[in-house]
Amino acid sequence: MTQVVLTEVHGKVGLIRINRPEALNALNNDVVDGIAAAVDAFEADENIGCIVLTGSEKAFAAGADIGFMKDFDYMHAYKTDFITRNWERIKTARKPVIAAVSGFALGGGCEMAMMCDMIFAADTAKFGQPEIKLGTMPGAGGTQRLPRAVGKAKAMDLCLTARMMDAAEAEKSGLVARVIPAEQLLEDTLKAAQTIAGFSLPVIMMIKESVSRAYESSLNEGLLFERRAFHSSFALEDQKEGMAAFIEKRKPAFKNR
Ligand code: HXC
Repeated sequence: MTQVVLTEVHGKVGLIRINRPEALNALNNDVVDGIAAAVDAFEADENIGCIVLTGSEKAFAAGADIGFMKDFDYMHAYKTDFITRNWERIKTARKPVIAAVSGFALGGGCEMAMMCDMIFAADTAKFGQPEIKLGTMPGAGGTQRLPRAVGKAKAMDLCLTARMMDAAEAEKSGLVARVIPAEQLLEDTLKAAQTIAGFSLPVIMMIKESVSRAYESSLNEGLLFERRAFHSSFALEDQKEGMAAFIEKRKPAFKNR
């Protein structure tokens, strides 16, 4: 049987690849459970400092698998806690997760990319929330994360008309961090991930937690959270090492402590 989720280690970066090309990487339970298991493994591995989630050249993921969902009834969706049970493992990761998106990121695929900490898009990327065409709606965070990323007007436009947004528009509206020529997407994303993973892991995690607060709390609460995390960084050996290395004009040797 083909493995629908593949993993590789590149230095200090864990790469997760969705591998259902015949269905444009549509997300079923096997895929979502596989991603969650891969995140578990990379989170537990002290050597890994950053995770990259990617798909194929043609599709990051064209949505939740329509065949898998089509006969769900309300009670099944509710009792099995569809989405919340396993999709949100990416959200709870403490190490940064970068989505490297080439081709389609639609419906649940767009939502999964938005669960990541940032999106690097190939110039071929196409984002959209077309669920309305299927008689349903975004259910993995699309109506909440899209407005926070691109504003209410564009989020309404995408969710209500089902149109796709290309990489240039996605960058202009703040959904993606970088647009990269498709053939270089993985290489450049892994390079950025290696840069991140080369820093002190506790500091990486503190920064991720603090930036995430900007989405999840009021400004005052977020600033307070940031200040406490910043103060606590003075308890790290890596802070002493990082600042000493600067003063001594040498490269720091971080120990993740
Ligand atoms: C199951 C899918 C699929 C999906 C594509 N495929 N998307 N199978 N679920 N979401 C399958 C097709 O059935 C087809 O299989 C194969 O992948 C190739 O797709 P084509 O349609 O032939 O390719 P193309 O003509 O290039 O069109 C690409 C496309 C189109 C525009 C992306 O496939 C499409 O519109 N897909 C559905 C997109 C969508 O509606 N996503 C939202 C899903 S709902 P065969 O066997 O025929 O070759 C959702 C709910 C979120 O995500 C809520 C919570 C998660």
